[in-house]
Amino acid sequence: MIIEPRTRGFICLTSHPTGCAQNVKDQIAYVQSKGKIEGAKKVLVIGASTGFGLASRITSAFGSDAATIGVFFDKAASEGRPASPGFYNTAAFEEEAQKAGLYAKSINGDAFSNEIKEEVVNLIKEDLGQVDLVIYSLASPVRTHPESGKRFKSVLKPIGEVFTNKTVDFHTGKVSEISIKPAEGDDVENTVTVMGGEDWRMWMDALKNANVLAEGVTTVAYSYIGPEVTKPVYRNGTIGAAKDHLEATAFTISEDLEAIGGKAYVSVNKALVTQASSAIPVIPLYISLLFKVMKEKGIHEGCIEQIERLYSERLFGGDLSLDEKGRIRIDDWEMRDDVQEEITKLWEQATSENINEIGDLEGYSLEFFKLFGFKVDGVNYEADVNELVKIPSIQ
Ligand code: NAD
Ligand code: NA
Repeated sequence: MIIEPRTRGFICLTSHPTGCAQNVKDQIAYVQSKGKIEGAKKVLVIGASTGFGLASRITSAFGSDAATIGVFFDKAASEGRPASPGFYNTAAFEEEAQKAGLYAKSINGDAFSNEIKEEVVNLIKEDLGQVDLVIYSLASPVRTHPESGKRFKSVLKPIGEVFTNKTVDFHTGKVSEISIKPAEGDDVENTVTVMGGEDWRMWMDALKNANVLAEGVTTVAYSYIGPEVTKPVYRNGTIGAAKDHLEATAFTISEDLEAIGGKAYVSVNKALVTQASSAIPVIPLYISLLFKVMKEKGIHEGCIEQIERLYSERLFGGDLSLDEKGRIRIDDWEMRDDVQEEITKLWEQATSENINEIGDLEGYSLEFFKLFGFKVDGVNYEADVNELVKIPSIQ
């Protein structure tokens, strides 16, 4: 079939297998261009099909020749209906890994469940024995709790008071003012239940109890802080409460892993275009200004540049450079004073009339479409493609 982007608001309903595959190949080529990393050799990535998790899997495999197991929750294609992008990304990743002689297997299912944890444990036992790195990169709006069976929903709201600020519709370039109502009822608790650290700890417990963690294992989860302008809706909002919990959980897991010399870290990453960040008001305007400023300064990074730098300079580079709260800060360039000062100035000025000049709306929009395999360089979108792609290890 010929597949075109079909967007509804901030989501895209279709995705392109060839474009997704090209994105994966481009990320692999980037990692290879940076040279080898003396890193972990047996790696489990939870949330491995898109964004930072996919970049982590690629960096482990093609930077350190690691065997990887990837866990994700994606939709396979049906006749005339493309798969979700993570499905196509993983199919392409496994094919490239096979060509390079690297072990790669994937499990598609709900990572929050006991069943998927058990499946992963069994796969590690059978194929790898133990893993020496566990990347936790889930981003989900819902979680069914494995003990109660109750389904929790996360929300993106400020806490305490209404937050009013500017935002941009990146499809139209319209800058407008938006007000977001504060959390109510169980909003904060529910968001912490979904995006906090409980499931990360459950994963590490399950892996440790099954004796599939190697001596000196490292586990890393990803967090975000961001600038003053987004603080009320992000870091001081419901999602920030979940990130506080995730960050605190790193210390608990490190204690749990002490007996095997293991360590848990949180890496604070930079803001990037993802489906989730496109849906948070205010963030798209910030990201379009951030992209403009960072590109002008020659320090722009996407997922793969961030994770390659995280591995080569921090995790396996001998200098974690932890901050006062014990976190790895690979958002260091985003948070530089000169970058943030410039954005603050531009923020004041931003209107529908000037946003295309002072912000990188085009770059934002391009990145959005690329998440789904569209507008990728070198791909012929007029060509007939088979939407029914399979992931080699999942047949
Ligand atoms: P993403 O949506 O691109 O990736 C999420 C992954 O989780 C996908 O592989 C998806 O399949 C998987 N997943 C979701 N629900 C699942 C479930 N129930 N079971 C199994 N797999 C499931 O997200 P991302 O932007 O890469 O975010 C990953 C982490 O990085 C999050 O903790 C996020 O907060 C953090 N982070 C994101 C940004 C940003 O700007 N996007 C910045 C800093 C930190
Ligand atoms: Na991810």
